[in-house]
Amino acid sequence: MARPKLQYQCSECGALAPKWAGQCADCGAWNSMSEALAAAPVSGSNKPRFTSYAGQGGAQIQNLGAVQPGRETRVSTGVHELDRVLGGGLVAGSVVLIGGDPGIGKSTLLLQALAAFSGELKALYVTGEESPEQVSLRAHRLAVGADELRLLAETSVERIIEHARIETPQVMVIDSIQTLYTEALQSAPGSVGQVRESAAQLVRFAKQTGTALFLVGHVTKEGTLAGPRVLEHMVDTVLYFEGDAGGRYRVIRAIKNRFGAVNELGVFAMTDRGLKEVRNPSSIFLSRHEQPVAGSIILVTMEGTRPMLVEVQALVDDSQLSNPRRVTLGLEQNRLAMLLAVQHRHGGVLMGDQDVYVNVVGGVRVTETAADLSMLLAVLSSFRDRTLPNDLVVFGEVGLAGEIRPVPNGQQRLHEAAKLGFRRALVPAANAPKSAIDGLEICAVSRYAEVMDWFAGQ
Ligand code: TYD
Ligand code: MG
Repeated sequence: MARPKLQYQCSECGALAPKWAGQCADCGAWNSMSEALAAAPVSGSNKPRFTSYAGQGGAQIQNLGAVQPGRETRVSTGVHELDRVLGGGLVAGSVVLIGGDPGIGKSTLLLQALAAFSGELKALYVTGEESPEQVSLRAHRLAVGADELRLLAETSVERIIEHARIETPQVMVIDSIQTLYTEALQSAPGSVGQVRESAAQLVRFAKQTGTALFLVGHVTKEGTLAGPRVLEHMVDTVLYFEGDAGGRYRVIRAIKNRFGAVNELGVFAMTDRGLKEVRNPSSIFLSRHEQPVAGSIILVTMEGTRPMLVEVQALVDDSQLSNPRRVTLGLEQNRLAMLLAVQHRHGGVLMGDQDVYVNVVGGVRVTETAADLSMLLAVLSSFRDRTLPNDLVVFGEVGLAGEIRPVPNGQQRLHEAAKLGFRRALVPAANAPKSAIDGLEICAVSRYAEVMDWFAGQ
């Protein structure tokens, strides 16, 4: 068989070039060219036998109404929290990418899921990172009865697909995509070109045969290079597995899902016997303070496209200085000074002789204005030494005229809070949901004076 033709593609703009160059001639980006395969004409024996797309010649234009919706059959992964983020189970022929830092527990989770599967479905675990002995050691440690699970230690995509065509698994796990290489490219495993091309071959295989495919991918701290980011558009579902550094809790999120809702959340605890599902996640987020404490409040902030709940704390104390201190950690200091002026002018509370400290717990940095309301309430709560309910979340921007302004993604924030077990929300009037959210009581405010009234009633 003739060697497929090599070319180079810019990862920024997608431009193709026959030769490698340090700078893309089209968009001017530096170091963005990586190996890619030229599309080979599909003919003869090369032609896929069957495919889920109608693109292979002979396709006709038709009315959308005349197309029967495909039926998606879902199977449970046996791990309830994983089913939930997948949108209610695994869909045949779907490709799921699981990204996350090394050591977060991706291999553990998938081994647990496959062990639950292998009773009913034919499952194949392809390990490129660990030896079969290491996988066996983990299975023993997890005490999952996975003796029937089929295992393959291989890193060549071509050979993996050959094996899979004979084995015909219904579910296949690739751990991890960064260790695979395709013989068609010369670059090292883990490079952008290799990752993209290997994944493309596997996705094609999954779509042709209806195999459900899990791809494991590592993310580096800096983010993207050779990480799963280049794959996100190729797959049906992208899950991110994250955790607090050194903590025992792990959160898995869907950030793209062609078969379900995004921003679904599954919570696990890492134990010495693998991952255990946490059915009531609010317990772990709320248990830090058994009783409500003054000066503490929960803010719903957006981290990129994802809502995240963080605790904002304030301490207001008599100052010994002629110039009282205004200190913020994780928030903007000038913003605090400005908000204290609003507090005085529109709330009638003066803190001129007080030191004010505001901190976001856990070293998180919040840069958005949605934190305004939480800052003011934390400060007020500490100053008055009055506690706020610990099932309360807030967000909202405060303007200089004393108005409470809406922030983006209000609905998403509220749904996240409700999902995590919070029962009350103080939000800008313009962010109040049109239809009620299950289990969440909304208090909508449009002026700072209303916030003061609300606070007086607590
Ligand atoms: P692993 O699944 O290998 O992570 P990944 O595939 O994402 O790189 O799991 C990593 C960590 O989990 C490892 O540091 C050990 C820990 N661990 C436990 O605490 N308990 C267990 O039962 C297992 C299997 C792992
Ligand atoms: Mg692993």
